[in-house]
Amino acid sequence: MHPCPAHTHALHSTVTETPVITTTGLTKVYRSRGREVTALDGVDLHVREGEVYGVIGQSGAGKSSLIRCVNLLERPTSGTVTVAGQDLTALAGRGPRAGRELRKARSRIGMVFQHFNLLSSRTVQDNVELPLEILGVSGKERSRKALELLDLVGLSDKAKVYPAQLSGGQKQRVGIARALAGDPKVLLSDEATSALDPETTRSILQLLRDLNRQLGLTVLLITHEMDVVKTICDSAALMENGRIVESGTVSELLATPGSELASALFPVSGDATGDDRTVIDVTFHGEAATQPVISQLARTYNIDISILGAAMDTVAGKQVGRMRIELPGRYEENVVPIGFLREQGLQIDVQGQEPVLVKEGAK
Ligand SMILES: Nc1ncnc2c1ncn2[C@@H]1O[C@H](COP(=O)(O)OP(=O)(O)O)[C@@H](O)[C@H]1O
Ligand SMILES: [Mg+2]
Repeated sequence: MHPCPAHTHALHSTVTETPVITTTGLTKVYRSRGREVTALDGVDLHVREGEVYGVIGQSGAGKSSLIRCVNLLERPTSGTVTVAGQDLTALAGRGPRAGRELRKARSRIGMVFQHFNLLSSRTVQDNVELPLEILGVSGKERSRKALELLDLVGLSDKAKVYPAQLSGGQKQRVGIARALAGDPKVLLSDEATSALDPETTRSILQLLRDLNRQLGLTVLLITHEMDVVKTICDSAALMENGRIVESGTVSELLATPGSELASALFPVSGDATGDDRTVIDVTFHGEAATQPVISQLARTYNIDISILGAAMDTVAGKQVGRMRIELPGRYEENVVPIGFLREQGLQIDVQGQEPVLVKEGAK
């Protein structure tokens, strides 16, 4: 059973402008057997309070290194990491006192893993209590807190069972409850749903979203699935070769001509029907109606326009549409009609052309 069904979605996002996770020039070089691998190459990450921030990228891009550096599980080679106003890199490795401070700061960062990392010899409740034991919380208080958290993740009836008796989704719920034990401001999740089937993935994502809304928890999650970003993220970054190559709120990204993330988040397909054709992707947001604009374009310039593909979707809670159309003739012959479309405030990406930034103030 799920304590937070989809209709609680009415709860508003409480993203503020306060930065909660900031990295500047974060670099990580691994040295092993005389070989150097630069996993992070100057990453500037800005995660605001209350947002769900997705980091996406191919295997080897540096995603896990980034998350491990954010909670100092991995020592950055250079650069800084600030979480909830505290410079963790300044605390790391500065004697026992700083070490204690770092441990305390870390207890305010929850971490969820792909393979759950539960202790099989401990009951569900004892797994959730583990971080509280380490923090020196009394037995009675630990038990109260663990049961409260298990209730929050929908597992109040599983407190006394062992991890082996749980499904993958239930194990991940225990992992999430455990991550919340230290009342973190921030939850880090490294491919938390990669080992789960699609339906369980959806319910875990929904849980993360609900916790984000209910507790004002900031979530930094790593994924290689675009669907995850589309379902629950407010903002996203694309990583390639240890660098962030695109980032922003999901709506900003969708409104960025030529954005790789945007077209991956929201693909339209359809191939040109011939060489002497210009293919254009038209993106519109909210209620904007494209169809009348396209008809007007056809009438005004007396051209035949074919629609190659179209898609409508809800991305980050907003309606977005994309249409791929084809105009007869090469790009050079179509600059005027394309200009007309841009004048209507539509976002236009012409295939094979450099992206053009929409004028400031255009809607
Ligand atoms: N402990 C390590 N020692 C050496 N190289 C590593 C280590 N961890 C990761 N790497 C390398 O760093 C690069 C980035 O890895 P990683 O951060 O795991 O990427 P991702 O999570 O995006 O797949 C890869 O080339 C990987 O092989
Ligand atoms: Mg990884």
